[in-house]
Amino acid sequence: MSHDVRREDGRFGQVPAGVDAEDPNAHRPEPIDVSVTDTLIDDKTVDELRQIAARYPQSRSAMLPMLHLVQSVEGRVTPAGIEIIAQILDVSTADVSGVATFYTMYKRRPNGEYNVGVCTTALCAIMGGDDIFDRLSKELGVGHDETTPDGKITLERIECNAACDYAPVLMVNWEFLDNQDPDSATETVTKLRNGVEITSTRGARITTWKQAERVLAGYSDDRADEGPTAGPASQLGVRLAAENNWKAPTPQEAADALAAARAAEGEEGAK
Ligand code: FES
Repeated sequence: MSHDVRREDGRFGQVPAGVDAEDPNAHRPEPIDVSVTDTLIDDKTVDELRQIAARYPQSRSAMLPMLHLVQSVEGRVTPAGIEIIAQILDVSTADVSGVATFYTMYKRRPNGEYNVGVCTTALCAIMGGDDIFDRLSKELGVGHDETTPDGKITLERIECNAACDYAPVLMVNWEFLDNQDPDSATETVTKLRNGVEITSTRGARITTWKQAERVLAGYSDDRADEGPTAGPASQLGVRLAAENNWKAPTPQEAADALAAARAAEGEEGAK
């Protein structure tokens, strides 16, 4: 769980799970190396970047999938990738850089083959997400947004995945692993580090992070239909409604009910 610590300025602050209260900077990530100008982006990738830009009426709307395509090739958003996107979209490199540094799905440091995100937002946290993060951080020897020396795993604390009904959840390369605990999470990362293929608890086989990034750029890997789109916990409300013959009110019925409730409140207040 997160805990309080007195900071250098004398005030108290929250230290997130997985961070050593005695040394909050113990897991400070390596600085971003912007001096590397080598790039793996070739003519084929440039063509694909142009194709993505052409899909949108306003070409700069393509910036997000273009950044994902760069990551699928480079393993991160590189200075070269930013430069090429800026040229294609006819915007400044600062425009592209501003977007790439705003969203946490864009990585400025080389990402691992598998991005393991542990949801540590409130519900997952109290259901064990903090404990999972702590165990994985210890097992892997890395903190938030850091990558193991073998380049296999990047560990990340992530915000609510809208999968609270399966809390606590992990995401591996954006595929769900539901109802996890420290032991199951450790088993997962051990398999990944040993090259054992794993599947999401919802059925989809989990690809490498670069392959997943290509899908996010808009290039299908034909795995979208592997596994169900919603499990029993997500469908519980629908099932209960069907069993009890509950129906959503029409807009008029809802408006009438609201007006009646307000009128009743008014009568109550007048007494
Ligand atoms: S809090 Fe973890 S999925 Fe919502």
